[in-house]
Amino acid sequence: MTDLVATARSLFADNKGLLAADESVHTATSRLASYGVGAGEEMRRQYRDLFLGAPGIEKYLSGVILFSETLEEKGGDKKLFPKSLAARGIAPGVKVDLGTEPFPESPDELITHGLLDLPERLALYRKQGAVFTKWRAVVRIEGDTLPSALALHENAKRLASYAKVAQEAGLVPIVEPEVLMEGVHGRTRARAVVEETLNVLFSVIEEHAVDHASVILKTSMVLSGSENAKRDTPDEVAEDTVAALLASVPRQVAGIVFLSGGQTPDQATDNLRAIARKAREVNAPWPITFSYARALQEEALAIWKGKEENIDAARAAFLARLAAVSAALG
Ligand code: 13P
Repeated sequence: MTDLVATARSLFADNKGLLAADESVHTATSRLASYGVGAGEEMRRQYRDLFLGAPGIEKYLSGVILFSETLEEKGGDKKLFPKSLAARGIAPGVKVDLGTEPFPESPDELITHGLLDLPERLALYRKQGAVFTKWRAVVRIEGDTLPSALALHENAKRLASYAKVAQEAGLVPIVEPEVLMEGVHGRTRARAVVEETLNVLFSVIEEHAVDHASVILKTSMVLSGSENAKRDTPDEVAEDTVAALLASVPRQVAGIVFLSGGQTPDQATDNLRAIARKAREVNAPWPITFSYARALQEEALAIWKGKEENIDAARAAFLARLAAVSAALG
């Protein structure tokens, strides 16, 4: 087994999963603002430290996806975040795409950029302690018209190029084509789009000669749109999610992680439990786990509000959610 494969597989051990703490400056600023927390680099550092400095997270987390800024910062323990995580057995990873922009051929859709200087940036991130990476594309559902085949294909090409460059740089790639939950569409339409997105992605990955065994897929669950009145049961979500993945994801990939995508913490926990159960039932060929941002952080942020005196209570809420999500896996 190569080092990359071993690193990729280690992220799925012992019912542990990933914290996505890789919000860009823009996203972190608006997320913090929604909890009444002010902006700025020091506030963002304290925000990261709230989660990364919480005692006991190593019981539930195998890895954390960081934003590049955090790789160079120190936590309350005076250690650089990647060093502090690695010392606790948590693999540091980093988001390496540079965000989205309108896709000229279909301006209502977004395309992810960041390939141009990627090899240089990856070399730097590796030196700073990252062992895995993530690239996110977004897929918008709009009736039967979106996503367009062109946008799916262009995003897949970029995801595949990124994955190849990451492997060449000695870093595990997490490919994340996020099918957005926003919209009025039903779950059947979501299932078809997830399946098509992943089929396109893995056929392009094949063409780029990316090693499947060290690729991790980060995917959305199959859910009815957020503006659809239908509330899916966990069993319905599990049925459609596992069926879509079985129909599109090669058995050789190192594993599959789920994003929370705007689900409440309880929904993201209950749906993961049902998906894990279903995956066991059908003997799914890949390990699965969580890679949540919002569903893991929301409750703690509502308590913290940027105040020192709330740190302990906020961390306790974070640990309780981590324990619940991890327990849902097995
Ligand atoms: P959410 O769990 O909040 O969807 O975030 C996961 C992620 O990494 C999105 O890119």
